[in-house]
Amino acid sequence: MRTQCFPLFHSPIDLAHNYWKQLLQPGDNVIDATCGNGKDTLFLTELLFTLSDVSTLIAIDIQQQAIEKTRSLLKACDKNIHFYTQSHATFPEVAYTLPIRLIVYNFGYLPQGDKSLTTLTESSLASLKAALALVMPGGCISATCYPGHLEGSREETALLALTQTLDPTHWCITWHTWPNRTLSPSLLLIQKNHLSK
Ligand SMILES: C[S@@+](CC[C@H](N)C(=O)[O-])C[C@H]1O[C@@H](n2cnc3c(N)ncnc32)[C@H](O)[C@@H]1O
Repeated sequence: MRTQCFPLFHSPIDLAHNYWKQLLQPGDNVIDATCGNGKDTLFLTELLFTLSDVSTLIAIDIQQQAIEKTRSLLKACDKNIHFYTQSHATFPEVAYTLPIRLIVYNFGYLPQGDKSLTTLTESSLASLKAALALVMPGGCISATCYPGHLEGSREETALLALTQTLDPTHWCITWHTWPNRTLSPSLLLIQKNHLSK
């Protein structure tokens, strides 16, 4: 089954990309909190820097190997991209100096990498809490979850439980799943009200 077989989207990644396209505006600032092999980061650079040159993109991954892969994929792009080899449990200081429209997570492990180096429930929860405090009004957090492995399943359950505690006046939350696929990835989207502080 390929993406182009279906009229709207096939995977959580296609769906997430469609939403990012709708959301981003010229001059927006974005965090890719799990840049991995850089595919999402590349997509974000194409969206952001086609709209304007003044955006900032922050790319984070805990593995140096992932940061290097992302850097090399983006090597033709000389725009304002900051790379951080660190856990996303906390965000780098520069993130707190900018209005951040979108924070992206693609949880799990590096494709073709070491599967034991997967995102972990506790640090993912800490990061989501930091992201909720950081994202600007009218902004969004996009999280792709992988419940097909044990830690991914714990992580998805914990993140969903946290989102269920959020005040619906300030947060609009949707969770996309693929019910005819066993243990399929899911996409969690968390929008912050334009009028919230
Ligand atoms: C599924 S991959 C991301 C794929 C990537 N978005 C892409 O388009 O290629 C998940 C990534 O999360 C990273 N990761 C794991 N724990 C992390 C943490 N605590 N903080 C930041 N990144 C982490 C892994 O190193 C891995 O590269």
